[in-house]
Amino acid sequence: MILNQELNKILIVDFGSQFTQLIARRIRELGVFSEIVSHKKIKSKDVNKFIKGIILSGGPLNVYEIKKYSFDKNIILKGLPVLGICFGHQILSKLNGGRVKQSKHREFGLANIYKKRNSLLIEKIFKKKKSIKVWMSHADQVSKLPKNFITIASSSNSKFAIVENKKKNFYGVQFHPEVTHTEYGKKLLSNFIFSICKIKRNWSSRDQKVKLIKDVKGQVGTNKVICALSGGVDSSVVAQLLNKAIGKRLYCIFVNTGMLRKNEEQQVIETFKKRLKINLIYVNAEKEFIKSLTNISDPEKKRKIIGNLFIKIFERYAKKIKNVKFLAQGTLYPDLIESKSVTGSQTSKIKSHHNVGGLPKKMKLKLVEPLKFLFKDEVRKLGLELKLSREIISRHPFPGPGLAIRMPGIITKEKINILKEADYYFIQALKDHGLYHKIWQAYAALLPVKTVGVMGDNRTYEYLCLLRAITSQDGMTADFYEFKKSFIQTISNKIVNSIRGINRVVYDVTSKPPSTIELE
Ligand code: XMP
Repeated sequence: MILNQELNKILIVDFGSQFTQLIARRIRELGVFSEIVSHKKIKSKDVNKFIKGIILSGGPLNVYEIKKYSFDKNIILKGLPVLGICFGHQILSKLNGGRVKQSKHREFGLANIYKKRNSLLIEKIFKKKKSIKVWMSHADQVSKLPKNFITIASSSNSKFAIVENKKKNFYGVQFHPEVTHTEYGKKLLSNFIFSICKIKRNWSSRDQKVKLIKDVKGQVGTNKVICALSGGVDSSVVAQLLNKAIGKRLYCIFVNTGMLRKNEEQQVIETFKKRLKINLIYVNAEKEFIKSLTNISDPEKKRKIIGNLFIKIFERYAKKIKNVKFLAQGTLYPDLIESKSVTGSQTSKIKSHHNVGGLPKKMKLKLVEPLKFLFKDEVRKLGLELKLSREIISRHPFPGPGLAIRMPGIITKEKINILKEADYYFIQALKDHGLYHKIWQAYAALLPVKTVGVMGDNRTYEYLCLLRAITSQDGMTADFYEFKKSFIQTISNKIVNSIRGINRVVYDVTSKPPSTIELE
């Protein structure tokens, strides 16, 4: 059985579209649980009573090669409403006896579709308008409709832009209602799930909180759980959720690597130990980390040393807690589903990631992964529902190896202290100027070069500070943020005037690719 959530849902069969996750997110934004399963994995016997409707996603395949890929077509014969999107629309037509062929003109981008008939699927969509704009992205199209299907809307290129077989509850759209460029796209999905599938809302942060707390209690019983807390969004939400579920049987271990942002350790202790009353084991391993990094300047070596030492220290402290059976981790839904972005896996080849939550299997603990069905934005909302502060929930991402990878060259205590200050002033200035939440991630780095400056009448010879601020959706690609000159001037002055050790500030104007977000 591959679908293990006992919750009414819309099933999304993934044929490899870059937009599949968006479909799931839109359905969930409408307040209904949705699960994604690869077309290779789902079998008709998996279609259980919790599934109230099926969406077939788009994808790069083509229908004439139907024999080449595995898809159990009995899935659509279970009497459930089915909505095919793009490729999903084509396969739905083909399986019902229609024809699909290569279009004369490939259609990418916005197109106008015109209403031909009324349908539950387009209720309150066209209103008084004759046409709406939709986002197309296809090379093939349905060329002959199957028997008992009718056309609801057409574009100049796609005669069968929206089709239905009302008796069977089959619907097909050639465009992508899940992308925001499609006018009324969300309304169309809403019509499908509420008016056609007749599913009830069951997916709010409150619903999730209640369900996840119950699930954790059920899974863990009276056992103890450990969790590596970093202070980032995911591990903070996991910790607070488990705190609500099992209270003092949760043990959080927070390792101070010495490479954290200024005052971070105090903030974590203040929030989790004092305010939320979580069992927090604070490990100050600053000296151990700095010692093990002595004279190391190779970025990969730094990453490996930090990752390995972190695990060693975590295990050392975990062993002190007797009879632990479970390890809690902040795995998210995109880590779980197969249709992970290709660029995502590429990034992990370019740098060996160290993630505070990702501890080794050899610890032989059973995993508790309460967030594994949630997207990042859902985790944030759940965090607020669990009464975590907005400051924690909307914090910029911070890499496991911390400041070590923002300090090319060798690492010294002196450099760490300088960098902590510079980063603090930069982030504070972003907050003071109302820019922090417009930026996906920002930080200061210390470059291993000294340059000459003049302060008062004296010559200085000090380090170069690099500032980086980017906008991004998911960290896979990024663009640099365009500051006003006055802001960049203010922060540059503040850093140079306040921090002994820096006499020059530069701003990183590269995007990703070709650069990466972190320097190492
Ligand atoms: P890059 O530098 O690969 O960064 O463009 C993409 C995103 O990943 C974060 N990052 C890490 N996060 N452990 C983490 O938990 C790591 O080792 C790591 N390396 C980079 C980076 O901050 C950015 O948000």
